Amino acid sequence: MTVLFVFAAALFCPITYSTYTFETKYIQVPLSHFSNIGNTTFKLRYLVNKSYHVKGGPVFLYTGNEGDVNMFAQNSGFIFELATEFNALVVFAEHRYYGQSMPFGNKSYSLENIRYLSTAQALSDYVYLIEELRRIYLATVISLDTYPFIAFGGSYGGMLAAWLRMKYPNSVLGAIASSAPIWLFDDLTPCETFYGITSDVFGHYGTEHCNKTIQLSWEVIRNVTKTDKGKAFVSATWKLCDHLKTAADVDKLIDWLSNIYVNLAMINYPYPTDFLVALPAYPVKIFCDKLNSYKSQNSLALVEALGIALQVYTNFTGETKCHNMNITSRDLGEYAWDYQACTELVMPMCSTEKDMFETAPWEFKKYSDDCFRKFGVHSARPDWVILEYGGKNLRYFSNIVFSNGLMDPWSSGGVLKNVSCTVLAVNITDGAHHIDLRGNHPADTNYVLEARKFHRNAIKKWLNII
Ligand SMILES: *[C@@H]1O[C@H](CO)[C@@H](O)[C@H](O)[C@H]1NC(C)=O
Ligand SMILES: *[C@@H]1O[C@H](CO)[C@@H](O)[C@H](O)[C@H]1NC(C)=O
Ligand SMILES: *[C@@H]1O[C@H](CO)[C@@H](O)[C@H](O)[C@H]1NC(C)=O
Ligand SMILES: *[C@@H]1O[C@H](CO)[C@@H](O)[C@H](O)[C@H]1NC(C)=O
Ligand SMILES: *[C@@H]1O[C@H](CO)[C@@H](O)[C@H](O)[C@H]1NC(C)=O
Ligand SMILES: *[C@@H]1O[C@H](CO)[C@@H](O)[C@H](O)[C@H]1NC(C)=O
Ligand SMILES: *[C@@H]1O[C@H](CO)[C@@H](O)[C@H](O)[C@H]1NC(C)=O
Ligand SMILES: *[C@@H]1O[C@H](CO)[C@@H](O)[C@H](O)[C@H]1NC(C)=O
Ligand SMILES: *[C@@H]1O[C@H](CO)[C@@H](O)[C@H](O)[C@H]1NC(C)=O
Repeated sequence: MTVLFVFAAALFCPITYSTYTFETKYIQVPLSHFSNIGNTTFKLRYLVNKSYHVKGGPVFLYTGNEGDVNMFAQNSGFIFELATEFNALVVFAEHRYYGQSMPFGNKSYSLENIRYLSTAQALSDYVYLIEELRRIYLATVISLDTYPFIAFGGSYGGMLAAWLRMKYPNSVLGAIASSAPIWLFDDLTPCETFYGITSDVFGHYGTEHCNKTIQLSWEVIRNVTKTDKGKAFVSATWKLCDHLKTAADVDKLIDWLSNIYVNLAMINYPYPTDFLVALPAYPVKIFCDKLNSYKSQNSLALVEALGIALQVYTNFTGETKCHNMNITSRDLGEYAWDYQACTELVMPMCSTEKDMFETAPWEFKKYSDDCFRKFGVHSARPDWVILEYGGKNLRYFSNIVFSNGLMDPWSSGGVLKNVSCTVLAVNITDGAHHIDLRGNHPADTNYVLEARKFHRNAIKKWLNII
């Protein structure tokens, strides 16, 4: 009864989810680790909690990804829970060009200044930080065996955790890489898998009727927005901040909506959360319930119903004044991420007539041209990320656990099978995006609990505790 009551209350009151506390610190890191451009440095932010640390204990380092580091710190309670068991120092590092870690302040996103944003630069920042942490918290000169660092990360942060272990095994003893789609590049994964899984999640949690309705809605949206009157109707009923004027605006609306569907599937957690945005438990189900309450055959009624259902994601708190199609989350650095996805992390994705998205083939040239228009650079080397980090050839690496929720679109590019005795995979059959990194919750399923146990045992092995 009590648990149900808490859930019900959470549905109706805006809640502050900030449960974890830290000291905020900064470290000066070189702007470029790889070229002789002088000694320019900038301030990288990191968060430290030393309350659980006992001398001799390890350091748990979260390798921050594409957003404000606080958001990841507030949604990775598992690391805290482990820290109490392992007497660990807990550190969350912010990724350069996100949150407060801006090399050129508010001018960081100019075409000239954004050039120092790459995975290699970010990994080197973390290596720098590890040395600093050794100096500050772990006293004198220490060997890895005495004061081991374990990297943690979710999503792109999970890729970075794995890559940090692969490239700098002297810096981190092992890595827990949760929902890290390291195989979503070049031809490693068929391009339709990602949207296929997203559509299945909508079918599974919201009845098949739901993904079918979404599939039919694209043509309706296209039809309605053909005329100025229709554009004005959608702009007004959906309360768009920037009203639709051109065909390009309609494309932008459709991209934004598609991204929201992906995010809903990704963070379809079984309890209310505040990651990316504030959401109720099983938001996909709630979205679909609202959409399915639409019965009429009328196009305008479907558009209205979508506008209402959408607010599960965009307006759960009831505080959203208008819908901003430029972003899907206040805390993500979507502009900088797009730059990374253009220059280095090109992930081929396509949708077919089988899934619920508007059918669109993967067209590399078009993708690259769009990148040129936006950032003045073409996607010149889509295979570089494979040459750099090994692609499917992982058997020479060691001490990495890849975990994936199979009800997560990003699991399409994840490592789902054991590679060797020390590069391991664990599935969370009913899990969403890096749910295993979240703190314990009464609604956790056995699959999630098993994955956390898997991580715990792997770390014990790396630390020689068992
Ligand atoms: C570390 O986290 C715990 C639990 O959130 C909190 O009680 C403690 O004050 C934190 N320590 C620091 C130094 O922030
Ligand atoms: C940075 O380089 C300049 C010359 O390029 C030099 O004068 C200065 O002392 C250097 N600063 C530091 C902190 O090394
Ligand atoms: C950008 O940063 C500078 C220096 O911190 C500040 O003076 C300026 O007001 C900022 N501009 C904007 C648009 O925020
Ligand atoms: C809807 O989801 C089900 C699985 O839950 C899947 O079989 C079906 O292909 C999906 N339909 C569309 C249109 O995406
Ligand atoms: C879109 O408009 C065309 C022509 O006006 C019409 O034939 C078609 O049925 C419409 N489709 C939908 C899904 O409304
Ligand atoms: C968000 O919800 C509030 C309260 O229901 C409503 O007044 C507001 O118009 C909604 N915002 C949008 C963009 O729909
Ligand atoms: C969205 O981005 C465009 C282009 O940068 C800008 O002109 C517009 O004002 C932005 N809209 C909102 C609501 O922030
Ligand atoms: C995880 O699931 C995939 C896809 O269903 C399956 O092929 C794989 O064997 C599973 N791996 C593990 C470690 O259970
Ligand atoms: C993967 O390896 C782990 C550790 O050796 C083992 O416990 C697990 O059963 C393996 N999974 C599969 C599907 O073989």
